Amino acid sequence: MSTKLQGLRGMNDLLPDEAERWEAFEAIVRDWLKSYGYRPIRTPILEPTALFSRGVGEHTDIVEKEMYSFEDRLSEEKMTLRPEGTASCVRSVIEHSLLFAQPQRLYYSGPMFRHERPQKGRYRQFNQVGVEALGFAGPDIDAEHIVMCRRLWDDLGLEDIELQLNSLGDASERARHRGELIAYLEKYQDSLDEDGKRRLYTNPLRVLDSKNPAMQEIADGAPKLTAYLGEESLRHFEAVQDLLREAAVPYRINPRLVRGLDYYNRTVFEWTTTRLGAQATFCAGGRYDSLIAQLGGREAPACGFAMGMERVMMLWLEGQEVNGPLETPDIYLVHQGEAAQKFAFRLAEQIRSAGFSVVFHCGGGNFKSQMKKANSSGATYAVIVGDNEANSGVAAVKPLREEGEQVSLVPEALTEWLAERLYGVEAD
Ligand code: HAM
Repeated sequence: MSTKLQGLRGMNDLLPDEAERWEAFEAIVRDWLKSYGYRPIRTPILEPTALFSRGVGEHTDIVEKEMYSFEDRLSEEKMTLRPEGTASCVRSVIEHSLLFAQPQRLYYSGPMFRHERPQKGRYRQFNQVGVEALGFAGPDIDAEHIVMCRRLWDDLGLEDIELQLNSLGDASERARHRGELIAYLEKYQDSLDEDGKRRLYTNPLRVLDSKNPAMQEIADGAPKLTAYLGEESLRHFEAVQDLLREAAVPYRINPRLVRGLDYYNRTVFEWTTTRLGAQATFCAGGRYDSLIAQLGGREAPACGFAMGMERVMMLWLEGQEVNGPLETPDIYLVHQGEAAQKFAFRLAEQIRSAGFSVVFHCGGGNFKSQMKKANSSGATYAVIVGDNEANSGVAAVKPLREEGEQVSLVPEALTEWLAERLYGVEAD
């Protein structure tokens, strides 16, 4: 016997019980996005490596160590499994001149890939729902994103969540802060951990959001970026907060919140929870006013966010019964005999044409064993056809979830009977 193959570490299967809940979640999310006027965009999972090194930033964890990159054997092109969706979305918008006529409110959902150490809530293939608003400069769109998140969390009934907010200012403000920050951190050079030492000159801002308590202590005394914000950045930040107060969305300003991707400026935010252990952030985003031009488009402001679907699903399903199917068929079709099988096969299609779901019994067996399968399928009714029924052109229908008589009906009467029972629709 050959050895059993297993899936890759950090890349999970979603089995039917769970996958059905994902579909239910996706349906809620789609309605929510539509209610804010966002439209879908779908981009390839593979992109040129340069898109992410230029877009996300050379000195980020993602680009330095987490990307799944390879060279195409024939074309020798360097390509990467997307680690996030913003860069891809922006590439597509530029490539197809979507911003030419008007700003765009877009969303996407699908798998992303990062070579991280897998643990609860952290995977190598994970899914994001991402939202990007391109061509909008004002603080109202930043607030819209935060308010729409809040609505979704409320609709899902998420508890113990917090919104953290910060402003990263613009490039010149960050440059001034950077000089002072490096000078401050150099004083602690010997006490910096490995990541801190590595980032000191390449990405010193990231030292501020280190999870290491010793680094946090150093970070606490560091010059705060918010103190370097100019008038316009401050006004923008104030206006976002005003709108949040107006919408009664509580938040906490976290001056150490810097995000792990380089394209952000001004507003950044993270939704965190105390219920997921170390992987506390389940949704994050912010403004990225330079990215479009940086990737070859014309100068245009933008902002967006993405939620980690696995993390939101964990919060949503907490305390819910996750075993067992969510979707059950209307009918399980039981049949025995040659004439019965042919009649039943046609009947199943007729019932489906009338809008009901039918599981057609396959694999033989006597009526008793087929009825057992009908019961465990969760179907509402069993439709039963023997050769006698087939010869007289009728089928018997039997309720499986409630008391009720078995009745024999011709196909047209059967679909009307079902419509009345399942949807309360009376035939004329
Ligand atoms: P991000 O913070 O890298 O931002 O990822 C967003 C969310 O994806 C995280 O808050 C987390 O919930 C989830 N996530 C990230 N890595 C993993 C992982 N290894 N396993 C499970 N979940 C994970 C972005 O990706 C930006 N593109 C967000 C954005 C959109 N900013 C503006 N527009």
